[in-house]
Amino acid sequence: MRVVAIDGPAASGKSSTARAVARAIGFHHLDSGALYRALTRVALDAGLDPVNLDVPALLEQAERRGLGLRPEGEDFVPLLDGAPAEQLIRTPEVTAAVSAVSAVPAVRDWANARMRALAEAGVPVVVDGRDIGSVVFPEAGLKVFLYADSVVRALRRLVQQGGREPSNEEVFAEAERLKARDKADASRAVAPLVSPPDALELDTSRLTFEEQVDGIARLARTVYRLPAP
Ligand code: DC
Repeated sequence: MRVVAIDGPAASGKSSTARAVARAIGFHHLDSGALYRALTRVALDAGLDPVNLDVPALLEQAERRGLGLRPEGEDFVPLLDGAPAEQLIRTPEVTAAVSAVSAVPAVRDWANARMRALAEAGVPVVVDGRDIGSVVFPEAGLKVFLYADSVVRALRRLVQQGGREPSNEEVFAEAERLKARDKADASRAVAPLVSPPDALELDTSRLTFEEQVDGIARLARTVYRLPAP
């Protein structure tokens, strides 16, 4: 099994970094958050309450709608009803409910089994999430924990979303929201956000995107004896 695990807090750039690393080393990229988002979409569509979740009903609906992951280029895209669900899972409604859905142990077991099945089938993957190195793939050959100052993360996120330079007030307000999410993710009972002891902790506050991708890709090539680009 060839796995690079990338974990980290909200807006640490995990997904974009994982995607770019996967491209650089010829692995597939698997965004574990997309699975939780797709499950949340299914729960909302079925009228299930995310907070008092009827898990058997959710998983039955997920199977019925063929919730799965399909390789597309170097990525895995979430599928629902036979079609890519990327747009359906990035709505504010899903974002608001996904924390509750992803906190349910039986839901996590279902998602983790899907991810492990891919890697065990021999697909080399770069997986990003919150508990990839600690719970899903504790045997991953390379584990990276990405973090950055909350103000840096807030600025990056606002620029990415708005395409303009945000005001200081906007940046500080977003930084507070990120810190609150970090706290919730790190203190939850199930699969909390933690940096595994054997992870490489990478503070990206002062790194460019290219530098951080390049650093991780180099390590992955060493660990998995991959050819130089
Ligand atoms: O990375 P994201 O915002 O798309 O993740 C969506 C949600 O899923 C987020 O609230 C955290 C949760 N999540 C998780 O609990 N464990 C993971 N491995 C990935 C995401």
